[in-house]
Amino acid sequence: MKITILTGAGISAESGLGTFRSTDGLWAKYDLAKVATPEAFNRDPAMVHEFYNLRRKACIEAQPNPAHFALAELQRASPNVTIVTQNVDDLHERAGAKVLHMHGELMRARCVKCDRRWEAPVRMSAGDLCDCGAAARPDVVWFGESPYFIEEITHAVRGSDLFVVIGSSGKVYPAAGFVQIADKARVDTLEINLERNGQVFDRSIVGPATQTVPEWVRGLI
Ligand code: APR
Repeated sequence: MKITILTGAGISAESGLGTFRSTDGLWAKYDLAKVATPEAFNRDPAMVHEFYNLRRKACIEAQPNPAHFALAELQRASPNVTIVTQNVDDLHERAGAKVLHMHGELMRARCVKCDRRWEAPVRMSAGDLCDCGAAARPDVVWFGESPYFIEEITHAVRGSDLFVVIGSSGKVYPAAGFVQIADKARVDTLEINLERNGQVFDRSIVGPATQTVPEWVRGLI
């Protein structure tokens, strides 16, 4: 069975990494227009770097949780499992999974000009430059920028038997549109979340990911 899985901040919540839209989420604490747009970086690179330095530090201190490990186990047990994440943390990789980061990666940096990418230092600052001399930025996709791997992901969703969304509010496109693409292609859809996120799925499993995801994977393997 071909499965495409999309994860959101909810899968890393129990690892201690904040979600975005919960009442105490990141966007309740920070104005995203000041820290997560190309304009913000051009206006105040030091502030944007500081925002990502704090998140990078939290990511390094966090550990993958049973939900991350369960997806890695599923991917080992079945070659037809594609995992796509909106998350920029590396907890899926540290649990042993291969994932497509459609919103980029906190632990990587990239050049604003030549698009070279490299492993980010723990702390980046406004003076950091690419070898080509242009400014270095976090390799994170900001609001108003195009996410990575969209064609590959769309193809994977359309060609799956099952499309699963784990821990995402379904508020941000194009990720939020994948469930409609699956539906149009007559792919079964499953939502695993603390609560129904308002989008229409064939099936929903409600509960904390560290319990629901391992249980779901056990039922498949
Ligand atoms: N187990 C399962 N689901 C959870 C848990 C948990 N322990 N905790 C929270 N959730 C769910 C919430 O119910 C919510 O539906 O995770 C979702 C988190 O939603 P958001 O905070 O909006 O995160 P996400 O959907 O990943 O945001 C998408 O928005 O700001 C951008 O780039 C950012 O990638 C992010 C994108």
